[in-house]
Amino acid sequence: MFETELTRTLKIRYPIFQAPMAGGPTTPDLVAAVSNAGGLGNLGAGYLTPEQLRGAIQKIRELTDQPFGVNLFVPEQPEESEEAVVQMTDYLNKYRVKLGIAQNPSILKSSESFDDQVQVLLEEKIPVFSFTFGIPPHDVIQAMKQCGTVVIGTATTVEEAKHLEVAGVNAIVAQGCEAGGHRGTFLKNVSESLIGTMALVPQIVDHVSIPVIASGGIMDGRGLVASLALGAAAVKMGTAFLACPESGAHETYKRKILSANEDSTEITCAYSGKAARGIRTKFMNDMHQYPGTIPAYPIQNAMTRDIRQAAAKSNDPEYMSLWAGQGLRLAKDQSAAEIVKQTIEQADAFVKKSFLYAGERF
Ligand SMILES: Cc1cc2nc3c(=O)[nH]c(=O)nc-3n(C[C@H](O)[C@H](O)[C@H](O)COP(=O)(O)O)c2cc1C
Repeated sequence: MFETELTRTLKIRYPIFQAPMAGGPTTPDLVAAVSNAGGLGNLGAGYLTPEQLRGAIQKIRELTDQPFGVNLFVPEQPEESEEAVVQMTDYLNKYRVKLGIAQNPSILKSSESFDDQVQVLLEEKIPVFSFTFGIPPHDVIQAMKQCGTVVIGTATTVEEAKHLEVAGVNAIVAQGCEAGGHRGTFLKNVSESLIGTMALVPQIVDHVSIPVIASGGIMDGRGLVASLALGAAAVKMGTAFLACPESGAHETYKRKILSANEDSTEITCAYSGKAARGIRTKFMNDMHQYPGTIPAYPIQNAMTRDIRQAAAKSNDPEYMSLWAGQGLRLAKDQSAAEIVKQTIEQADAFVKKSFLYAGERF
């Protein structure tokens, strides 16, 4: 019943993607569990070195013979003034004192080499490649497609979706503003690109001729049916999988996910310099008072890394980044396979009930 153009192309049973979530949650165990359950597991590999990336792909292949995806960040090279970096370092030092870690750390590397990561993906001939934060060079998209890899981009507006279609992607993720994690916005300011999933999906569907994947706030079978009704060919769920046992999210983070509400999140640049939705923390609140300009991504991300790591070590959620979407209250501590199964069962029951209802009435 839930076969779509995209499930046929990807050779997956259900139109359910587990969102790639860089920074630890999408372990090979989680990716493989979702793919084995009939969905598409996705590895969030934006922060992985080429060696870690190859190791994770090989591990996934040991755990499943089903299709899976790998997701990368399209690189950005912002110019940041020395003064802004010094001012932020000074400001962040008060958190370092609080957490008992060294002040003025040397920021070694702000991001991995995209070209090296792409090289690994081409050598490994992965089934699905997705990306966010922009559009990779034309030759990267073409090389992936020549390897038989399905290429998927991320859009937060209709304009971005049209650019992605022209660039040659096979499908587009429509990321609504309910979504957890970083905004994929790359054409306009984020404040002009905060469109809810319900409004965004049908407008993108009407303006492109390739499959659209709905993402943002989708947590169960109701979200799946609604997305398909809006014209989506699949859904991509992130927050729904964060607290499951296969997720590599920190235990403190998982507990926060399971106890937070729909009004617990906010979009912030405080942790990484790029707008992202997460559970409100002391760090986010404090940074509202920051007197200067927060350095752009990926610089700020590198500058707060030691603080986030120290906070995780001491189980202090107030200084960790707790990315999560607005569907929070619906998150459950269930296995990944159970989440896929229940989503399909709920969607199936809902559709049957609707037809029955319609049959009785008309
Ligand atoms: C913890 C976390 C990390 C994320 N990391 C990535 C990522 O690496 N790449 C990406 O394209 N999207 C990333 N996202 C966004 C998801 O792909 C997706 O758009 C989002 O999870 C959908 O909203 P939901 O969380 O309400 O399901 C992340 C989301 C979360 C919650």
